[in-house]
Amino acid sequence: MDDKVIATLKQKASAARSNAYAPYSRFHVGAALVTEDGQIFSGCNVENAAYPEGVCAEAGAISAMVAAGGDCKIASIMVMGKGPTPCLPCGGCRQKIREFATSRTCVLVVDEDGALLFKDDLHALLPSSFGPENLEIEVEGKSA
Ligand code: THU
Repeated sequence: MDDKVIATLKQKASAARSNAYAPYSRFHVGAALVTEDGQIFSGCNVENAAYPEGVCAEAGAISAMVAAGGDCKIASIMVMGKGPTPCLPCGGCRQKIREFATSRTCVLVVDEDGALLFKDDLHALLPSSFGPENLEIEVEGKSA
């Protein structure tokens, strides 16, 4: 991936992270993704007094991508938490990314200063996964 795209993802993830609503955990997370058609979307974690209703930063970025239309194929997604331990996507987010992933989708994790802590394909984080293809059915000659 282009250095310019990485720099933009860092900037967008950082801006989103600065708006995180995390009064309960105080763990601020930002995420930014780039689609295969070059669009960039970001999100932050939004917690809730009813704790399980909180949503992760990755989910926010994915919602923004879907709401904008477009090809919705994630080329790369970056997560910015707080170092030194990489803020890897939780299990639920791995599956949410999987929905819009390709065989090449890359996950990058950076610290709050943008230092790269982790980089690998989604497949390494979610092997043998279940995805939309598993539900493909033929309806009147069209895929559902
Ligand atoms: N969180 C994210 O937003 N993304 C991750 O990849 C891991 C965790 C959030 C959820 C919660 O608001 C806080 O971090 C602490 O778990």
